[in-house]
Amino acid sequence: MNKKLGLVGAGNIGGTLGLLAALAEYQEIALFDVKPGLAKGKALDLGQAAALHGSSSRITGSDSFAILEDCDCVVVTAGSPRLPGMSRDDLLSVNAKVMQSVGQAIAQYCPGAFVICVTNPLDAMVYLLQHASKIPDHRIVGMAGILDSARFRYFLSDYFKTGVQNIHALVLGGHGDTMVPLVRHTLVDGISLEKHVELGRLPAADLEAIIQRTRQGGGEIVALLQTGSAFIAPARSAFEMVQAHLRDEKKLLPVAAKVTVEFNVPQPMFLGVPVILGAKGVEKIIQYEFTEQEQQGLTNSAAAVASLIEDMHRLGFLSE
Ligand code: APR
Repeated sequence: MNKKLGLVGAGNIGGTLGLLAALAEYQEIALFDVKPGLAKGKALDLGQAAALHGSSSRITGSDSFAILEDCDCVVVTAGSPRLPGMSRDDLLSVNAKVMQSVGQAIAQYCPGAFVICVTNPLDAMVYLLQHASKIPDHRIVGMAGILDSARFRYFLSDYFKTGVQNIHALVLGGHGDTMVPLVRHTLVDGISLEKHVELGRLPAADLEAIIQRTRQGGGEIVALLQTGSAFIAPARSAFEMVQAHLRDEKKLLPVAAKVTVEFNVPQPMFLGVPVILGAKGVEKIIQYEFTEQEQQGLTNSAAAVASLIEDMHRLGFLSE
């Protein structure tokens, strides 16, 4: 892949993404981390792994933002991860400052890049990152729905004892507590989840339990790990978006994209919606006809995101 991928944050997700990109033979992978030595050390480790794999990727690391010069795509995972007992929203203040400095660096070194934000609380951080970087709407997105959808598919595949590839699901809305799984559009073995419920193969209470477990999918892992949060599936989810963009796949993915009136949101915001991702970035936002319940779920999500944006205004992160 004749492209330069920038990874801002060389921690757990950044490092795992570096490995995925190296295995996929990306020509250039540049890691940045504020912690001295970390990005350089990870780059060496990754380079040696790539050598074993026979990959010719050129992997570099630095604690200077200049390493991001001319990146085609940048994934931002910089910040503090969620620790046990910490909600995503608790992270707001800590990570908002990080988004400001990273956004300014993107504006300076790679203003033409496609930018994917992973840092939590996602829907708020991607908003701030755009505010600081001035990247246009179609070239900046947040990663949430792919991970939530993967978790939902994984739990459903376990329930139905069928291959996860036989399950198609779209989880929209905000990340986590207010996510909206589209039950009507979820297919298990080619049959909609709604139909499975109707036929008694999936009692409504079991479906609710699976949805609840998906909502708390990140928290379940945090509680088990004790020392950090999930990073392998989040990295793989972000990689799905990198690939869709750099390979111009024009793939339908649930992505936190900038939406305005079309989704009945109270103000412009980033919200998980079905998007066609390709070389131009967000090439299209797909408009489904939502049921009243789905629309209500999205309205609740939008209200939660709007209140985060309000918090950021109050804390002074959105003033010019
Ligand atoms: N600029 C660049 N890197 C930074 C900055 C900054 N201002 N502040 C912190 N970092 C770096 C840290 O030094 C660390 O190496 O970001 C990295 C984050 O890595 P981890 O702590 O391992 O966190 P990770 O599991 O990768 O998650 C990153 O993604 O899913 C979200 O909630 C998660 O917000 C968290 C983010």
